[in-house]
Formats: sequence, structure tokens, C-alpha cells
Amino acid sequence: MSNLFDHLNKGIPDLHPYEPGRSIDEVVAEYKPEKVVKLASNENPLGPSPEAVKALKSHNDDLHLYPDGDSKKLKALIANHELLNPENIIIGNGSNEVLELAARAFLNKDSSALMSKHAFAVYKIVTQSSGSKIIEVPTNNWKHALNEFPRYLEDSTRVCFIANPNNPTGTYNTHQEFMSLMNSIPASVLVILDLAYFEYVTEKDYIKINELLDKYNNLLITKTFSKIQGLASLRIGYGLASKDLIGVLNKIRQPFNSNAIAQNAACLAILDHEHINKSIELNSQQRSYLMTRLIEMGLECIPSHGNFISFKGDFQADELFINLMKEGVIVRPIALYDMPEFIRVTVGTKEENDYFLLKLGQLL
Ligand SMILES: Cc1ncc(COP(=O)(O)O)c(C=O)c1O
Repeated sequence: MSNLFDHLNKGIPDLHPYEPGRSIDEVVAEYKPEKVVKLASNENPLGPSPEAVKALKSHNDDLHLYPDGDSKKLKALIANHELLNPENIIIGNGSNEVLELAARAFLNKDSSALMSKHAFAVYKIVTQSSGSKIIEVPTNNWKHALNEFPRYLEDSTRVCFIANPNNPTGTYNTHQEFMSLMNSIPASVLVILDLAYFEYVTEKDYIKINELLDKYNNLLITKTFSKIQGLASLRIGYGLASKDLIGVLNKIRQPFNSNAIAQNAACLAILDHEHINKSIELNSQQRSYLMTRLIEMGLECIPSHGNFISFKGDFQADELFINLMKEGVIVRPIALYDMPEFIRVTVGTKEENDYFLLKLGQLL
């Protein structure tokens, strides 16, 4: 007799679930450190825009009403911010939901999806859970080797995932590198360009979103309010693409996938340029400070363009992770990304980074 679990989509039995960073509450309960600094999930150490926080506090008289299922106000503000039309935008419950919608629309047991080795974990999860095959392209010095991608395409390939910058490597690809890929990949393959850490990149040769969207109909760009906007707990992100592609994704999304509180906070956050600029500046300064100090400690860092740094050294990453937690510092081991010798640390405030460096120095 066949078993319930014999009928799971191909890929699900071998799927490794996403492992989130340890929470402050969990670490306090388990290790009782005197102080906790969480540098585990690439969150904004300054938190959200103070204007967005005010909106959250006043949101108490209409919780019985469904949210705007079409997120009209937020889409209008994003359209203004991105110099696009609302019809080119889809709102997701985090940008992860947009990745999942795209996988649901294009991937199945007869297809394959292309992605870089050491790329963001959710690409594998959404691909495998749709029964689709994963094709991984080796990295070049930890960077997505976009020039190699076309060589790995198969007839069955329907989606290509690219994180720019990538988490957990922090490497980025230039606009030119990305354009070359777009020009050499068939228009029948959907390319998903995940720009979760877009604002942290300061290089002049980085991605120019509008030029790409004007030119390619097989492109879906994803962005999030979880990183620079500091709204990770509200789960809100968005996708940018042609009107037709957005129309397809809208057909399969849940009617009220983003809640009213998140929409409202995101509307205020996107207008708070002062907070965004302050967050970018803090990250730039503290990223180079952390990197310099880690190198001085004899550690090998992958140069990062995000709000995190992955490093390795003369330590066992899984042991160091636990020992740091006992001292109240939460970082992230990244064995799941096939990088078992590495630890990833999020760039925090100067005070948080110093606390991490102090405890790390004592443990090495
Ligand atoms: C590269 C990348 N893309 C997407 C996400 C998901 O972000 P969201 O919170 O919008 O679902 C993350 C989260 O860490 C990420 O690192």
C-alpha cells in the first residue's frame, strides 16, 4: 500500500528546511548571557524609519477590516521611487513570497532552474519544492560566474536565479556582466534578479534597474523592506517586471498576501530618505571597520557589498558559533551554503560590532 509521503512532489523529501538565525529570546533562555547582540540575520541595526514606527503605534481601530488586496497606495509610492508604473509592481509577503510565486508559475517536475553555488538558500527551496531540478554553477572567487551561466542551461531550464549582491558571499555583479547574461540567455527563460541588498552597494558599475526593465521582458527584479528599511518582522517586499509577468504572478498570489500594518509602515519608510541614507552610511563605515579589524585578527574575509561579512580562520565554525552565543553574540554558521568553515556576521552599530570583536578576540 502506498504511503502518504510517497506522493510528495519530487524534491521535497530531500529538501533541507531554511534555518533562520537564532532569536534573542532563545539565546537568553538557553545561555543566560548578561547582554545579547544579534548579528545573525542581516537586519538594519538602526531599526525602521521612526515615521514608520509612529504609524504602527496608531494602527488600532481598523484591525477587523481586510487590507487593500491590491496595495494601491504602496504600489503608487514604489512606482514613484523606482520610476515605474504600478502595473509593473507586485507586493509580496517578504520578497521571498515573490520568489515563490515565480517558481510556482514556471517550475514543475519537468523543468530545471539555474543558480550559482553558495546562492541564497530560498532559491533551492522553491525550486525543489516544485519538483524541479537544480542546476548549480560554480562561483569564481566566491562571485556568481554569470559568464558561465549560459553553458549550464538545459532545454528544460525555465528560471535562472541571481542574487546581487549575494547572501552569504556579499559579492556583486556589474550592470555589464548582468546585461551580457541577459543577452545570451533565451527570452523564454525567466531571469530573477534578487536585489535584497541593493542600497548597500556603492559601486558606480552596479545595476541600473530601469535600463534592464525597459529592455527585457523575461526579467523579474525583487526587492525588500526587510533590509535597509528595517521592517523584517512585518514581511513585506516587492517584485518589478513587465505588466504581463506581474499579471501572471498576481493571478496566483493570495488575495490579501500583505497585511495593512506592513503596507502602511512601508509607505512611510520608503519616503524617509534621511533614515535610508543614515543606514547606508552607517553600513559603509562599519563594514570597512569590521573588515579591517577581522583581517587584523588574521581572519580571511570575503569582500562584501552587503550588510554582512563572511569570514573564516583557524577555528571550527560550528563551535565558534556556539561559544559566541554563550557570550551573548549571535552570528550565523553557513554550512547550509556549503561553506562549513565560514561564519557570517551582520554589520551592526559600532557598539555592537565592538562587542562582537571583543568576544571573538577572546575566543580565538
Ligand atoms: C538575497 C536575499 N534575498 C531575499 C531575502 C528575503 O527577504 P524577505 O525578508 O524580503 O523575504 C533575503 C533575506 O535574508 C536575502 O538574503
